[in-house]
Amino acid sequence: MARPLEYGEQVLLWEAKRGRTFSFVLREGDVFHSHRGSIPHGEIAGKPEGARVFSNTGTEFVVFRPRVGERMMKVRRRTQIVYPKDAGWLALALDLRPGMRVVEIGTGSGAFTILLAQLVGPEGRVYTFDRREDFLKNALENIARAGLSGRVEAGVLEAGEPFPVEGEVDAAFIDLPEPWLAVPPAYSVLAPGRPLAGIVPTAEQLKGFVAALEREGFVAVECIELLERKVLVREREGVRPFERMVGFTGYLVAARKALGKEVG
Ligand SMILES: C[S@@+](CC[C@H](N)C(=O)[O-])C[C@H]1O[C@@H](n2cnc3c(N)ncnc32)[C@H](O)[C@@H]1O
Repeated sequence: MARPLEYGEQVLLWEAKRGRTFSFVLREGDVFHSHRGSIPHGEIAGKPEGARVFSNTGTEFVVFRPRVGERMMKVRRRTQIVYPKDAGWLALALDLRPGMRVVEIGTGSGAFTILLAQLVGPEGRVYTFDRREDFLKNALENIARAGLSGRVEAGVLEAGEPFPVEGEVDAAFIDLPEPWLAVPPAYSVLAPGRPLAGIVPTAEQLKGFVAALEREGFVAVECIELLERKVLVREREGVRPFERMVGFTGYLVAARKALGKEVG
């Protein structure tokens, strides 16, 4: 039986005609307002996901629990975030499973932290760090809205300082303007063979990142850029790619920790 939507959880309203989405936490007595009319939260609570609801002006919406990519896109942004387009590849590179522990530096708005927290499950842990306390506060609020607070520990840390976690971790993620600073502490805390991944916005940062990885003893270094193009599927006007696309979001990097230095 589908679990009905409850007060206290985040929901996503999808506008039937235009495909626009709105996300908020269901609260008893609150009302959702948009330029397409209003809907009392009480008309959504208790409904199953996929239910159709109508605003007071007759606009049709479908109600869902947001998918993890939607939770990432709906965070309150204080920084640039990792987009779902890149997050999928990065998640595969990090090879996370329920119960694992991961360090992240460059918490930013916590968008990628939300994905990490979902992947490690209730028994896993995400240790996330940023130099800005105000960013951490905002990120923790975003993570709480996603219902994932119990899996995340956050702290102020300057890149280059050792990660204050006990024992080894299963993966490390770096999203910093100077990613090379965090490579030696990431190497120290990672279990042998385990992956590191990161994202950088310029080719110069990419070069510095890769040089630091190779210097430190990471191997199997991969660098990629992903392009995503939406496709319009229409009965009369034909099927073809959408004219506009996001040109560039970042260079993605993945590597694995080898033990010792290269012999040859
Ligand atoms: C692009 S944002 C990270 C975005 C995040 N991955 C997300 O998806 O929301 C980069 C973050 O790195 C932090 N940062 C920059 N330099 C730093 C340093 N030297 N030490 C620690 N954090 C740093 C910034 O404060 C900022 O929050």
